[in-house]
This record gives sequence, structure tokens and C-alpha cells, in this order.
Amino acid sequence: MYRLGALLIGYLFGGVQSAILCGKLKGIDIRTQGSGNAGTTNTIRVLGKKAGFLVLLIDILKAIIAIYVAKLLFSPNHPDATILITFYSGIGAVLGHSFPLFFHFKGGKGIATTAGTLIGIDYRLFLIGAALFLITFAITRIVSISSLIMTASIPIMIIIFYSGKGNIGIEAMVLSLLVTGFTFYRHKANIKRLIEGNEARLTSKK
Ligand code: G3P
Repeated sequence: MYRLGALLIGYLFGGVQSAILCGKLKGIDIRTQGSGNAGTTNTIRVLGKKAGFLVLLIDILKAIIAIYVAKLLFSPNHPDATILITFYSGIGAVLGHSFPLFFHFKGGKGIATTAGTLIGIDYRLFLIGAALFLITFAITRIVSISSLIMTASIPIMIIIFYSGKGNIGIEAMVLSLLVTGFTFYRHKANIKRLIEGNEARLTSKK
């Protein structure tokens, strides 16, 4: 039950689609501009760095808040399952961000929200993921490949950090594989462009 509850709480918080709301404030639908993705990267592309930073912050925070609320509600009755409550609410937030209920189920790819989930799981996972992202971005200036490398590292980190935790560790590993698979699926157009060698480097409006 706590799994479904955490997933639902995450989904509702994840649905606060900051990129779409930010675009609306400027009178545009971000999903019809640039790459069409409702996320930090496309906000930087279309609206500039300040708006992009705000979207990044909100999308990270909404995962952290969702995890906090889910833990508050479910951890007291399931103290041994806190890590799973964290995973399910974080995954819910990524799903809510990607398929937002109040925005016709058309959202973003969930990278910033995944980063927020990593903070909720263990700040060391976030630091490693963020470092991999930043190193890749410094070399390539391409966000999608940086996002994919960060996400690909998650199941490896989960195996390293949680393999000794029995069934809960196994469930965490399965969930992390699902998240990574989902992210790669959401990036399928980016992957195609990366393979063809025509994925754009990040440029900002200002
Ligand atoms: O966070 C999404 C990023 O990895 C790619 O975004 O707009 O270049 O498809 P975009």
C-alpha cells in the first residue's frame, strides 16, 4: 500500500510542471518551441538562463518535497521500508513531471527530478551523478548525453550502495533499472540524433 501511496504523492508533486508554467508566464507553450521538451534545457534554450535555473531548482525541489511528504506519511508505519518509500515517491515525481495530469500528460524527460530523487536517496549518489553530468557536459556541451550518462550510473551506484540490504536492496536495484530504462526511452529522439552526430550543443537565449 505504501508503494502506491508514495507513487501517487510523487506523481502529484511531479505534475507541478515548472517549465510549462514558466513558459505560460511569458505567453508561450514551451512544448511548441525549441526541442519541444518541457524541462530545464529547453527553458534555457527558449527563455534564457535565469528561467532555466528557476525551472531546474523547482524540478529538483519537487522531488525532494514529494519524498519528504511520503516519508512523513508512510515511514512511521513502515520504518524498514524508508528507502523504498523514497524510491517510489521519487519515481512518482519523475512520472508526474513526464506525464503531468493537469497539462495533457505532455511534460519533460525527468532529469532534474531524477537529480532531486538522488538527493532524497543519498546525497552521495547525487554528488556522483552531478559530477558525471558536469564532466560530460564540460567535454561535449550536449545536455542529453550528459543526462544519459548520469542516469546510466544510477543502477551501478544502487548496486554498490544497496546490494547488502536483502530484498529491499533487490527492489531498489530493479526500480533504478526501470528509471534508467524509462529515461533512455524518453530520450529516444536525442539518442537517434547523437548516433547520427547532429544533436545540438546547448545554446542559451541570453
Ligand atoms: O533534460 C532533458 C535533456 O536531457 C534533453 O533536453 O531539450 O535537449 O531534448 P532536450
